[in-house]
Amino acid sequence: MITELSGKKVSPLGVGTWGIGGWIFPDKKNDAREIASLRFALDNGINVIDTAEIYGRGHAEEIVAEAITGRDRESLHITSKVFPTHLNRNGINKAVQNSLMRLKMKYIDLYLIHWPNPVANMREVMSTMEDLVDKGLIRTFGVSNFSVEDMSNAMSYLKKYKIEANQIEYSIMKKDADVDVVPFCVRNRIKIIAYTPLAKGEVATFKPVVEISKKIGKTPIQVALNYLMKNSLPIPKAGRAEHMKEILGSVGWELSDNDYKALRSA
Ligand SMILES: NC(=O)c1ccc[n+]([C@@H]2O[C@H](COP(=O)([O-])OP(=O)(O)OC[C@H]3O[C@@H](n4cnc5c(N)ncnc54)[C@H](OP(=O)(O)O)[C@@H]3O)[C@@H](O)[C@H]2O)c1
Repeated sequence: MITELSGKKVSPLGVGTWGIGGWIFPDKKNDAREIASLRFALDNGINVIDTAEIYGRGHAEEIVAEAITGRDRESLHITSKVFPTHLNRNGINKAVQNSLMRLKMKYIDLYLIHWPNPVANMREVMSTMEDLVDKGLIRTFGVSNFSVEDMSNAMSYLKKYKIEANQIEYSIMKKDADVDVVPFCVRNRIKIIAYTPLAKGEVATFKPVVEISKKIGKTPIQVALNYLMKNSLPIPKAGRAEHMKEILGSVGWELSDNDYKALRSA
């Protein structure tokens, strides 16, 4: 289980915001419901929120700012991401300032490169990330959707700091990272953040999960998330508080070794 991220104590589960505040364009019609869902999570022990400059073209970050209003910033862990088209010194410096403005924050806990960009100059990108830490604008940085080769390349340019995390698609229905990315991250003390951990809700009908959930009296959603908490920090998204309530029931208990093994080979 991941209990520490970017030097902060974190809940074993975070919340995602892709689709909150719109998809590729801002969409404000569900703001109130989505803010209520995020607040429900924060009121019930979750302190990790994942967002990105591209989500709703910045509106997801504005929603995060609204959801955390009045809370102690230091007690929260906020991740945001820079889009691959901004991967040069000037682009990253502008992107982080814009994210901070929308988030109404002085710093971001974990700043991720959203996707690799094969034409980006990674020496310049990694040096810019290290400078952002020194300037106090971000506490740590990391990557997302990076292969072992992408990570090794990025790491080769680092002078002062390490890659804190790799955010990857990882769920009980998508485990290919177990072959290479996860073992590499374990060896290099890079934390795994699991995105699309519910396979967009499909885990609820995945037979091996359904069977174990019936046996132990949890829901399939709760079993699927608890499974991931063994070696990663899942960040499910729920725009509805009733969904969030079910998600929160995945915390505070542990699958037996036998059930975990059965799900691992499912
Ligand atoms: N780094 C990347 O490239 C990347 C890519 C994709 C995602 N992400 C991050 O990972 C987060 C999660 O991934 P995701 O949004 O793709 O997928 P997900 O978390 O696997 O699934 C989200 C979907 O599941 C539904 N859901 C949530 N709780 C539910 C419940 N209790 N019962 C039934 N359905 C439920 C949500 O519905 P409602 O919204 O209606 O509640 C939503 O439609 C994103 O929000 C984003 O922050 C990162």
